[in-house]
Amino acid sequence: MTYHQGFRFFSGYFDRAAQVALLAAVRDIVADAPLYVPTMPHTGKAMSVRMTNAGALGWVTDRDSGYRYERLHPVTGNAWPAIPAMLVCLWRNVADYPAFPEACLVNVYDSKSRLGSHVDADEHDRNAPVVSVSLGDDAVFHIGGSRRSDPKTRMVLRSGDVVVLGGEARLAYHGVDRVRAGTSDLIEGGGRINLTLRRVTVAS
Ligand code: SIN
Ligand code: FE2
Repeated sequence: MTYHQGFRFFSGYFDRAAQVALLAAVRDIVADAPLYVPTMPHTGKAMSVRMTNAGALGWVTDRDSGYRYERLHPVTGNAWPAIPAMLVCLWRNVADYPAFPEACLVNVYDSKSRLGSHVDADEHDRNAPVVSVSLGDDAVFHIGGSRRSDPKTRMVLRSGDVVVLGGEARLAYHGVDRVRAGTSDLIEGGGRINLTLRRVTVAS
């Protein structure tokens, strides 16, 4: 399914057993680097997703310093845990990019969470794609074009699905309109986890 050059959708890339293993890896990340509530630049408004990261760099946001990558967890002050091997392997298989990912952003959604339309633009290396993995409840995801006003295509992302935003789609507006509670039994108590792998610095 191709909506844009560089957009790739792998339905059911991870089977149930792999999803269970990934969920365990996410629990290990969260045990080391606890979830926190990110806040929007300037307004300080709380986002409706909770976040943490794995990797050398983590994507963070707060009122005073805005969107950026940091080496240390904003609450614990510790370095982020390593990106799980399964995800490094995924990147190798689908990213079509010679260097490793540096960040794995973990977004945790409940049934009321959404993620407004945005472009992932805080990475220096735009030649590397963003690779996303969905776990748990279904999400209504949208992808548009390089302008906010461009028409959007909506699709459902299910547990185990992988999306690659590369090429033209790398700088396309995208977001999550809603999460459909009760659509997956992977995560106890429901909810959705999205993992995005990113290369931040230009590979030398
Ligand atoms: C993101 O844009 O960072 C996450 C997208 C998603 O949750 O599917
Ligand atoms: Fe994004």
